[in-house]
Amino acid sequence: MALALDKENYLLHKLHSLTGVVPVGYYMVQHLVLNSFTIAGPEKFNAVIGFFEGMPKHFLLVMEVCMIWIPLLFHAVYGMFIIARAKPNYFGSVYGWSRNLMYTLQRWTGVFLFFFLILHVTTTTGKKYMEGSAKVIEFDAWYDKLTSQGYIWLILYMLGVATASFHLGSGIWNFCIRWGITVSEKAQNAVQKFSIAFFVAVTLIGWAALGGFLIHGNRNHVDTTPKQVHNVQTQFVAVR
Ligand code: HEM
Ligand code: HEM
Repeated sequence: MALALDKENYLLHKLHSLTGVVPVGYYMVQHLVLNSFTIAGPEKFNAVIGFFEGMPKHFLLVMEVCMIWIPLLFHAVYGMFIIARAKPNYFGSVYGWSRNLMYTLQRWTGVFLFFFLILHVTTTTGKKYMEGSAKVIEFDAWYDKLTSQGYIWLILYMLGVATASFHLGSGIWNFCIRWGITVSEKAQNAVQKFSIAFFVAVTLIGWAALGGFLIHGNRNHVDTTPKQVHNVQTQFVAVR
């Protein structure tokens, strides 16, 4: 049976929905929890990096490709396909204004995440493989990045974390309806409360991870202010 690419496919749509929760949603929550080890200090965060780097290389790569890259790539690309066909409609809908707003926000956050994740994955895992060193994803490199260029990276990551948490939180609510887990209005309202709490909690965990970098700082940071450059020059002259 040929797949018509100009219209959505029932099975692909179901698979898109499932991949959003597992493995992608599950991965993101555990990823942010492990990143929040920054609160306990650079050694604890670097130990997490070291744990994954200590795995046999082929095993790590197969795990990344099968459990993260393929499901995420499928969810992202098919998600963009859904978005391209979406028709936002706040007014005169049987679902009401707030449900249509959620529908639209789910799509906007999807578009933002598409670009955020391209940037994030290429500047972390991608850079690590290109340079052949995990130094680029260790604590000190994160501190330097987040505090550089007028904190633009920090703001971007705060937005990225909040957007991803919102997309997953509201996605869980939608998922429960789509898969027939919540049928009654009462059950849907209960899951909505859970989704809001989940969105807030996951955002705070991600922001705590970012805060951890700022609290501890880079202890190997080289101060290159003009004052120190001047001192080095003075010492150099004194030795000569
Ligand atoms: C607090 C903010 C975040 C920090 C500090 C962070 C940190 C990292 C680090 C260090 C890596 C490299 C892992 C490795 O190659 O071993 C990475 C990769 C990745 N991150 Fe994040 N991340 C953050 C937010 C997010 C968010 C919100 C998502 C959304 C799902 C995400 C998804 C990914 C993905 C898909 C990879 C590639 C994983 C792989 O191929 O192994 N990250 N991140
Ligand atoms: C990378 C860019 C992404 C795009 C373009 C995207 C796009 C979308 C779209 C359009 C929907 C709504 C589908 C529908 O209503 O039929 C959706 C749902 C969902 N997404 Fe994403 N998404 C992305 C990333 C993510 C990430 C990183 C996660 C997990 C952290 C995720 C989890 C979910 C969940 C759980 C749903 C609800 C599934 C359902 O409606 O049954 N998505 N996504």
